[in-house]
Amino acid sequence: MIRAVQTTPFTDQKPGTSGLRKKVRVFQQPSYAENFIQSVFDVIERERAGATLVIGGDGRFLNREVIQIAIRMAAAAGFGRVVVGQGGILSTPAASHLIRKRGALGGLILSASHNPGGPDEDFGIKYNVSNGGPAPESVTDAIYARTKAIDTWYAEDTADIDLDTPGAVSVGGMTVEVVDPVADYADLMETLFHFDAIRAAGLTMAFDAMSAVTGPYATEILERRLGFAPGTVRNGTPLPDFGGHHPDPNLVHARDLYETMMAEGAPDFGAASDGDGDRNLIIGRGRFVTPSDSLAMLAANAHLAPGYAGGLKGIARSMPTSAAADRVAAELGIPAYETPTGWKFFGNLLDAGLATICGEESAGTGSDHVREKDGLWAVLLWLNILAVTGKRVDQIARDHWARFGRNYYARHDYEGVDSTAADALMQELRGKLATLRGKRIGTLTIAQADDFAYTDPADGSTSANQGVRIIFEGGSRVVFRLSGTGTSGATLRVYLERYEPAGGDLDADTGVMLADIIAAADDIAGIQRHTGRGEPDVVT
Ligand code: G1P
Ligand code: ZN
Repeated sequence: MIRAVQTTPFTDQKPGTSGLRKKVRVFQQPSYAENFIQSVFDVIERERAGATLVIGGDGRFLNREVIQIAIRMAAAAGFGRVVVGQGGILSTPAASHLIRKRGALGGLILSASHNPGGPDEDFGIKYNVSNGGPAPESVTDAIYARTKAIDTWYAEDTADIDLDTPGAVSVGGMTVEVVDPVADYADLMETLFHFDAIRAAGLTMAFDAMSAVTGPYATEILERRLGFAPGTVRNGTPLPDFGGHHPDPNLVHARDLYETMMAEGAPDFGAASDGDGDRNLIIGRGRFVTPSDSLAMLAANAHLAPGYAGGLKGIARSMPTSAAADRVAAELGIPAYETPTGWKFFGNLLDAGLATICGEESAGTGSDHVREKDGLWAVLLWLNILAVTGKRVDQIARDHWARFGRNYYARHDYEGVDSTAADALMQELRGKLATLRGKRIGTLTIAQADDFAYTDPADGSTSANQGVRIIFEGGSRVVFRLSGTGTSGATLRVYLERYEPAGGDLDADTGVMLADIIAAADDIAGIQRHTGRGEPDVVT
């Protein structure tokens, strides 16, 4: 029997950079999750009858409860089949793969990515479409519009299903299939990389799953299929509160791994992934690799992996990501694309066959094998490259810089800033863009200042106001934008980059190399004046 429940709209259900993210307490309000899920289903009303829907999440607090709600609502909406990961678990890339493999209409991914979990922390719901990627803006805008008008949600009136036993059950005539969350994904990875070569290379490794979703995937792939020693995967059991940590693979939150990799006797290779398994951190013995550099180095060496032996069609990066990848594209004679922040902008390029590898400075890299960024994919491509070349990370990095030059890079995050102050900073900056050209600050001269706008080469859609770029003569730059994934206050992100050509100073301290640009950033935007902050909270 289908239950129709009267409801009233919530005014704050606008999806951000990556779906709807709020505090758990917000999601726990009666009808809050239901309104959003029903709005998604209403937007796909004409296609959903009899269709397949994939559901899974990163195991954080509220994951199981919202999955049960979504299953009951999917049955009422007339879906033919729901495919759900055992225990409610699916990493974001594994969900993307499952949507594609099963020919699903779409999927609901329950995650707040690298944000902390628990009763007082964050939760999120994201809708992905049939290509396996995040819904494009046209769809998220329609969902938001629907959330503002919704008056009823529908659910099959039935008990919770057993999420822990693989197999199929019927819910109001709809089949619910509980599947092994890891197997299909691990099989896909075996088709892309030289597992034999990695196994034979005798590499040592430390992988920090940060008590988040990648634990089961990394244990199966690294320890079972690739033969890395037991214990290679640390913090491998997904916990609802990630053990009280931020499951964010950066130098702040994965500090233990960093210290392991910088110590005497460090393993050859260190890596970590985030809450939902789409991000990656790469650290070789004694050598941290910035995500922007990792993208460039992976692209330059991807042909060494079977999945990319035929070469790359193009490389795409988000605008704030360093231009290191562009130099690789130029050398390979393939196009380079610059998109707004957020993985959803890569989907069209991948679908149209314009790009093969994509990446973001925020520790996201991936390829056309799925339509999400993929943490373990990046780890496996690195391992493949190390195994085939016999080089270690530090050598790969040095060789790369000697050939292409080095893009010194850092991101400064000012977190929990008062929203009004952050908006004022951005508004003031936007207001003076036209006057900045030619201005000298210290040794730097501004060559170009604009607010990044993007036209999608595949479908012609446009996205304006995607971040303020200040480009200096010589190619150094600073980018300012506000985060679209936070759940309280505002986060100001300041992206700093300086290019040092091959033959220049390639082994200097990043902070020293960026000092002028950091000072110029404050001069231009008045960070301290607006936010009261003299130092960023997080430097990555
Ligand atoms: C952040 C990252 C962005 C990434 C997104 C989802 O978004 O900066 O690159 O795609 O998380 O993982 P932001 O908070 O900056 O809007
Ligand atoms: Zn993530």
